[in-house]
Amino acid sequence: MPGAVEVRRLAGSELHEQLDALAAVLADGVAGGASVSYLEPFSQGDARAAFGEWAAEVEQGCRLILAAFAGPELVGTVQVNLAVPPNQPHRADIAKLLVHRSARRRGIGQLLMEHAEIEARAEGKTLLVLDTVTGDAAERLYQRLGWTTVGVIPGYALYPDGRPCDTTVFFKEI
Ligand SMILES: CC(C)(COP(=O)(O)OP(=O)(O)OC[C@H]1O[C@@H](n2cnc3c(N)ncnc32)[C@H](O)[C@@H]1OP(=O)(O)O)[C@@H](O)C(=O)NCCC(=O)NCCS
Repeated sequence: MPGAVEVRRLAGSELHEQLDALAAVLADGVAGGASVSYLEPFSQGDARAAFGEWAAEVEQGCRLILAAFAGPELVGTVQVNLAVPPNQPHRADIAKLLVHRSARRRGIGQLLMEHAEIEARAEGKTLLVLDTVTGDAAERLYQRLGWTTVGVIPGYALYPDGRPCDTTVFFKEI
């Protein structure tokens, strides 16, 4: 399946054309219980508004949005946040890795992360940081891809339904 999937960085008119599709993946993730900043109720409109703000940051050069396409269909996304303090120019944050529930467990999450690293390196970044819910598929994915666990923060965030969840912080030198 990954052979049939293309990952690319979205910008300009293509990014704007794909905002609804990106929002659909985010809304699906939250509906599926992913702890990615949001609480229920979370609508497609809420997701579209979030991606509208991130798209503005892409235009300002402080964020990258990548998308995975299975044929014409956008099935996953990940972001590289380049907005770092002046004394951390070599660092970026990875955020909002999401694969639509209908497309999971085919290697698309891994493909997105591999491309995020390539794009971050192209921006001159040598250190990446991220955090994720402890014990989920994403944590296993990051471990598989060579990320180093910094530690676990108990009760750091909430699932969309309001239950608390622990968060694992990772870094990777690239
Ligand atoms: C985390 C997430 C992005 C992973 O996406 P994905 O496309 O399913 O990721 P992959 O397919 O690369 O890997 C997932 C699993 O499928 C397995 N897999 C990959 N290709 C496979 C294949 N061809 N056949 C069978 N299994 C496969 C992997 O080994 C992995 O197994 P594991 O979870 O038991 O370790 C996805 O689950 C998701 O969107 N979750 C909700 C949002 C979230 O938590 N994001 C992280 C926020 S930091």
